[in-house]
Amino acid sequence: MDQRLNVYALPSLAAPEELAGGTAVVIDVLRACTTIVHALEAGAIEVIPCLEVDEARAIAAQYPVQDVVLGGERQGLPVAGFHLGNSPSEYTPDRVEGRTLVFTTTNGTRAMFQCRRAKRVLIGAFVNAAAVFGQLVGQDEIHLICAGTENQVSRDDVLLAGFLVDRLQRQGGIMYQLNAQALTARENWTSSFAVPYAVGAEPLPPDLLVRELRKSIGGRNLTAIGLEEDIDTAAQIDRFQVVPEMDPQTLRIRVP
Ligand code: MLT
Repeated sequence: MDQRLNVYALPSLAAPEELAGGTAVVIDVLRACTTIVHALEAGAIEVIPCLEVDEARAIAAQYPVQDVVLGGERQGLPVAGFHLGNSPSEYTPDRVEGRTLVFTTTNGTRAMFQCRRAKRVLIGAFVNAAAVFGQLVGQDEIHLICAGTENQVSRDDVLLAGFLVDRLQRQGGIMYQLNAQALTARENWTSSFAVPYAVGAEPLPPDLLVRELRKSIGGRNLTAIGLEEDIDTAAQIDRFQVVPEMDPQTLRIRVP
């Protein structure tokens, strides 16, 4: 059997049936996946991703008020009536510990739904990059799905996909067959980071990563609305060890 490692630079490029039986990683560095990692690390019980704002409100209304947090964004900003926006640093234990997070974002939660046919669905960000790599070692069929920004490829996601491809090829113990987008993502990563990474500067100096993330479409959008601090937070590579996993049947995200 071929051992495949595929990157999809946008969710629309990944047909759900192509992912069947494989391990998928949803990548939305700026910011949905970074925020989900923060929320679960801060003690949220689970995250329920929703496509629409009204759907999120309706699901949250089924819980006792003290047990639920409504979070997410539209146009990058908090949604009227929601408790929290999509800034990772908002998700602190005093706000989310012991609660269910009902969460909707423009791109990230859509990418999650695209993966519902995969065998396993992991949530990946730079803040848990090494831990995600650890979960992928030994997997025969891996699909890295970049969320992008409003159907445009965003460099923040491609860089993390490239980091994972590069590491899996060098240290994963399997010679994968790569699709064209995996080759491109790896090239994107190594052209910016091969030198600092190769000289053993692990963890990668966050300032280098911040500089690259700022250039992405997602980074520029956040800067335009005054949320550039979220870029610094998202660049804290390997800060956490948690790998959130979405159950493809129930579409709920937890730390197993
Ligand atoms: C998304 O899922 O659409 C992004 O996380 C957008 C954002 O950064 O607010």
